[in-house]
Amino acid sequence: MKTTVLGSGGWGTALALVLCDNGHNVTLWSHSPEKADQMAQTRENPLLKGVPLPKTLHITGSLDCLAGADMVVSAAPSFAVRTTGEKARPYLRPETVLVTVSKGIERETGLRMSQILQEATGNICRVAALSGPSHAEEVGRKLPTGCVSACPDRAAARFVQDAFMNDYFRVYTSYDIIGVELAAALKNVVALSCGICTGLGLQDNTKALLMTRAMAEITRLGEQLGGTRRTFGGLAGMGDLIVTCTSLHSRNYRAGILIGQGRTVQEAMEEVGAVVEGYYAAESVYQLAEKEQVEMPICRCAYEVLYHGKQARDVVSELMGRAKKDELLERTWM
Ligand SMILES: NC(=O)c1ccc[n+]([C@@H]2O[C@H](COP(=O)([O-])OP(=O)(O)OC[C@H]3O[C@@H](n4cnc5c(N)ncnc54)[C@H](O)[C@@H]3O)[C@@H](O)[C@H]2O)c1
Repeated sequence: MKTTVLGSGGWGTALALVLCDNGHNVTLWSHSPEKADQMAQTRENPLLKGVPLPKTLHITGSLDCLAGADMVVSAAPSFAVRTTGEKARPYLRPETVLVTVSKGIERETGLRMSQILQEATGNICRVAALSGPSHAEEVGRKLPTGCVSACPDRAAARFVQDAFMNDYFRVYTSYDIIGVELAAALKNVVALSCGICTGLGLQDNTKALLMTRAMAEITRLGEQLGGTRRTFGGLAGMGDLIVTCTSLHSRNYRAGILIGQGRTVQEAMEEVGAVVEGYYAAESVYQLAEKEQVEMPICRCAYEVLYHGKQARDVVSELMGRAKKDELLERTWM
């Protein structure tokens, strides 16, 4: 099968390697022709150090690699997904399956990544989302990993499952693309918050409390927007939340630690040195929650710390001091 991966960051590269291992004809496209040339020569991606790129992987800066592709993987950072989709549009056919693996919500529109791609490509082909607890660094080393291929079109979800699944990369299918994509975007906000807790010197109890209650509010918003509750307890939900909130591979978590230790948000983002998607997602989620009238205290507090200079330590007291709740009924004790 002919596949093209758009976006040569750590994740696009790791997924291209999975597809190569599965015997597909794979091209990795970089938006920077210079970077493409460099990778083609050194057979290494500096964003995925220590992982050799096999000779079978084509690397290019030319979009002509999209011609005739059966499957196209969109692995650009979330801010560049719309432009990447627009560039791909002339090459896509109705039978192509387009797979989004980016995690975010568009700031201006509140759209999920698959919705952006549908708009940007004129809805010419089916769009699936592949998501789950998956650090590029570990997939690049072929460590056992599991993801979900989500699409309301079952055949497309299975097509993606078949393309990626192997003995170290396990893929489940799901119809719930809404839930999978929302869970993926929102967990970055929680990872930032968890990092802030770590930076403040708070420990395991607090982080477990934060993650669990954050998942309750993510589920609330997700269901309101049409997602399925069970998705949030699955790989793309709780699975991805755990991996992002507990690992130094996560730049959102790392940025949060720096903020908790007292750096400004801008200083923390500069020090991390890469796009911190949770920062942008925090604003989108805040707006979505306001619009949908969904109570999301943890995400709201993250937004206030990140955008309005609220002190992280004050936020902890605020969250701990909220009115008594019932965990199951989610209503105030009378
Ligand atoms: N890294 C992971 O482990 C991982 C895992 C799952 C999902 N993701 C998601 O995949 C997406 C990509 O993440 P990543 O870690 O590979 O990114 P990255 O930060 O490693 O790399 C970003 C890449 O995007 C390129 N880029 C910059 N501007 C661009 C533009 N305008 N158009 C196209 N490409 C551009 C950069 O050159 C760089 O190669 C993100 O949405 C991320 O949330 C990442």
